[in-house]
Amino acid sequence: MSNSEPLPDVVMPFCPVRQMLRGQKALVTGAVSGIGRAVAIHMAQEGASVVINYASNDAGARDLVEEIEAKGGAAIAVKADVSDEEQVQAMFRRAIAEFGTIDILVNNAGLQKDSPFEEMTLSQWNTVLGVNLTGQFLCAREAVREFKRRGVVPAVSCAAGKIISMSSVHEVIPWAGHVNYAASKGGVMLMTKSIAQEVAPYRIRINSVCPGAIRTPINRDAWGTQEAYAELMKLVPYKRIGEPEDVARAVVWLASDDADYVHGVSLFVDGGMTLYPGFETGG
Ligand code: BGC
Repeated sequence: MSNSEPLPDVVMPFCPVRQMLRGQKALVTGAVSGIGRAVAIHMAQEGASVVINYASNDAGARDLVEEIEAKGGAAIAVKADVSDEEQVQAMFRRAIAEFGTIDILVNNAGLQKDSPFEEMTLSQWNTVLGVNLTGQFLCAREAVREFKRRGVVPAVSCAAGKIISMSSVHEVIPWAGHVNYAASKGGVMLMTKSIAQEVAPYRIRINSVCPGAIRTPINRDAWGTQEAYAELMKLVPYKRIGEPEDVARAVVWLASDDADYVHGVSLFVDGGMTLYPGFETGG
């Protein structure tokens, strides 16, 4: 299909049981813990078959597959380092062999290697950029190839495919001591919007979700003690930490046909962290 060919009109399928992702195949990277785990479970609950990507935790991946299957869902676990091109390509081959296609990619895998700037090693820089940015590039590229190969299947979804990039409030909030992480998320923001511009004519949708402080292992230092939690709340107008489910619900919605005209946006799920909370009482 070329850019100039007219696109067919897509009729919303009639769905007796309203599972938002019924019959779709989703691949979630970094799905064994934190936000990725919640996303995988919510997608399965909404009727998607889920590929659980993980980097090293075999037992955690097995447990998650069993948990989803026990609830009547379908899942497989695929180990792959998302920053490695061959491993990413092998993962997509395996996923497509198993489930027939991929309709949804959740580019969730991400990590932090924090350090004062002048002490940051090249390895800390490369690891974070490699997983958080290059990893999203490699997975998105494979997904787009598959979406274009298959095209729109109206009985499954209005779109040929959906990508959700896990970004962060730090795609707009600078973050001292975390220069590699903030740079990776700033990159995710413009990568996502640029891909969005390019793939829209193929009815491929891509959006970012930008979580604020969410209760996951990545930021335990920020919520693990009462003192830390009180400090954190100074940055959150809504005065509660986010839960992985808060983010998972937004991801499921963006992946669903309910969000069919939502494309190339950054959806902040942050309790208002990006509202300049320092100005709550002054300025
Ligand atoms: C980071 C967390 C941090 C949050 C808000 C996230 O992207 O991974 O460590 O707590 O942003 O600053």
